[in-house]
Amino acid sequence: MTPPEAVAALFQPFDLTPRLRLPNRIVLAPCTRNRALGDLSPTPGAAGHYASRAAAGLLVTEGVLISPGIQGYVDTPGIFTDAHQKAWEKVAAAVHARGGRIFMQLWHLGRMAHSHFHAVPPRAPSAVFDPGPRRQSRVTLEHEPPVALSEAEIMGILAEFEQAALRAVAAGFDGVEIHGANGYLPEQFWRMHTNRRSDGWGGTPERRARFTIEVCNRLGAAIGPDRVGLRLSPMAYFSEMKYTPGDNLALDVILARLSGAGLAYVHTGIVEDHPEEVLGGTSTQYLRRRWPGVVVANGALTPEQGASLVASGGAELAAFGKLFLANADLVERLSRGQPLEPYSRAVLDAFT
Ligand SMILES: Cc1cc2nc3c(=O)[nH]c(=O)nc-3n(C[C@H](O)[C@H](O)[C@H](O)COP(=O)(O)O)c2cc1C
Repeated sequence: MTPPEAVAALFQPFDLTPRLRLPNRIVLAPCTRNRALGDLSPTPGAAGHYASRAAAGLLVTEGVLISPGIQGYVDTPGIFTDAHQKAWEKVAAAVHARGGRIFMQLWHLGRMAHSHFHAVPPRAPSAVFDPGPRRQSRVTLEHEPPVALSEAEIMGILAEFEQAALRAVAAGFDGVEIHGANGYLPEQFWRMHTNRRSDGWGGTPERRARFTIEVCNRLGAAIGPDRVGLRLSPMAYFSEMKYTPGDNLALDVILARLSGAGLAYVHTGIVEDHPEEVLGGTSTQYLRRRWPGVVVANGALTPEQGASLVASGGAELAAFGKLFLANADLVERLSRGQPLEPYSRAVLDAFT
């Protein structure tokens, strides 16, 4: 049980952007629910899932596919058809009716997409894959080789990100979070393990950084930079991603070039935010040192750790994934010092 005084810093209001005041510093971390209809619209249960957590300062949805042919996991919803947009409207409206704020996480899986779902092979910066079984629920799959993206296809993906962001805002979302973390497409561009290109999109830190920067700038121009957040993983830790010395020169270019762009926030993507030698500290500390704007901390934080990061200026906001999945009323429980339910697989199975 956490006494309310130990988490008081999480209950300070915060002006995230000129148009978005958060009543507290608690963020729902994006968490895939593996629930979608046959056409990849979110299920009717999504509205209740998010609305029941609307007391958070900010909700971030599960990863949402920006286009067809990029799915890698069972029943993950999209935002690329009118039907998707209509279904997401209900989610945003339900959250707003409960007084909440919600960003949609925009997701392109790159080489982590799988032809099992749509019979087209995955596309990625380079044709690099790491053979073996995939960590996957409800289906058994092996990693498969991706096809290297052409220049025209890269331009097409930038346009799809923009279209998805416009649809999210049209559906009533307060903004979008670009999923640049956890080894998906933007990270596949900036890390050397997955980017072996020698054209304008690879070969130097500046060119490896280019894709992420262009997505952010393009979305900023389309919907306003204050409606755009960016999730980044300073550590290679997921999706068979591997660290190569020199990788982070590209990450540093991304952070430096975007630091004046007026984005809403940068958000740590890591399963447990431990110190790492190659980062000279935790992933959140790495971002904090390089990002002059708002930092959202995450990574197996306890509420006390989140509060102490906020109180010390280590981050402005603290995101909770598993704890918030297990406790829809996390905010209320923390404010009253009530005990929290532990997270378990059963929490995921209960989603509708
Ligand atoms: C079931 C589950 C689904 C997740 N799905 C996503 C996702 O869609 N997008 C993402 O960026 N991170 C995803 N994550 C990672 C979380 O956002 C978070 O970074 C991670 O769980 C560590 O934080 P926590 O200990 O507070 O949960 C997921 C995590 C879990 C447990």
